[in-house]
Formats: sequence, C-alpha cells, structure tokens
Amino acid sequence: MKYPISFHLNGKIVSLEVSTQETLLDALRQRLGLTGAKEACNEGNCGACTVLLNSAPVYACMVLAVEVDGSAVETVEGMEGEELHPLQKALIDQHGLQCGYCSPGILLTAQALLAHNSRPNKTQIREALAGNLCRCTGYTDIIKAVQVASRARR
Ligand code: FES
Ligand code: FES
Repeated sequence: MKYPISFHLNGKIVSLEVSTQETLLDALRQRLGLTGAKEACNEGNCGACTVLLNSAPVYACMVLAVEVDGSAVETVEGMEGEELHPLQKALIDQHGLQCGYCSPGILLTAQALLAHNSRPNKTQIREALAGNLCRCTGYTDIIKAVQVASRARR
C-alpha cells in the first residue's frame, strides 16, 4: 500500500507516494535522484546518510519516508550555490576529505552545529561529529575545517 506524502526538500515542496517500508534514504536516492546522502552501513552506525530533518541531523537510513510528511528535509544538494558553501570550501582547503564518502554527512552535521553554536571549540565539534565516521582522514583536518568555516561565517 502506498501513502501520499508532501514535504519541503531543500526549500521546494515535493510530493510522493511511498510504501510503509521505504526509508527516507531510498526515497531521496532512488525516487528523487539526490545521491548526496550516501548509503553505507544502512543500519544507523556510520552517518554517511545524514540529512537534516527540521534542521536536526538524522540518519536517513533510519527514518521512514512516511515520517517526513509535512517536514523540512535538507540534503547536501541544498548547499549548492554560485560559490562553494564556506564549510565545503574549508573542508577542501584544510584537506578534510579524501574519498569524500563521509563528506555530505559531515557537512550537514557541521552546518547544524554552526546554526546553534557559531564558535564551537574542538571538543564541541568532536561531540557533534561523533556520529559521522570517516575511514580516511583521521578527523583532525575535519575539525580544523569546521573551525575555519566558523570563522568565515562571522
Ligand atoms: S548508511 Fe545510514 S548510518 Fe550508515
Ligand atoms: S574521506 Fe573517506 S570516509 Fe571520510
């Protein structure tokens, strides 16, 4: 059985019919063609699929599509603009990515952090990003990138 849902996706209203088992991650990637949120563990352990749901980071693999009816969802595609978002620029400049698989989730989690705390210290950044695993960078440069981006936003 399919259920109609409607939600804001990166600022635009999207309407879909979804099954009760369909995850938000599958809806984004397979139905809407937004592949920025990555599928990795698919069981809520890695953060590669992180999106913002009503401005808070969530694992899209652990959210059912029917649950976002009436909500606002932001994906990394929503950061696109004429210029790189300060967080994207800082992640590149500070060498905070290698394969890039974790990067969309890290960018969105960091964006949510900076929305609430414009000057996070290293500990606060580490705590915020604790649910976003990176197998390449060792995290130090990611932390540095978030700090650089926080200064650029002021
Ligand atoms: S793919 Fe969703 S947490 Fe790993
Ligand atoms: S850059 Fe490869 S997993 Fe983070």
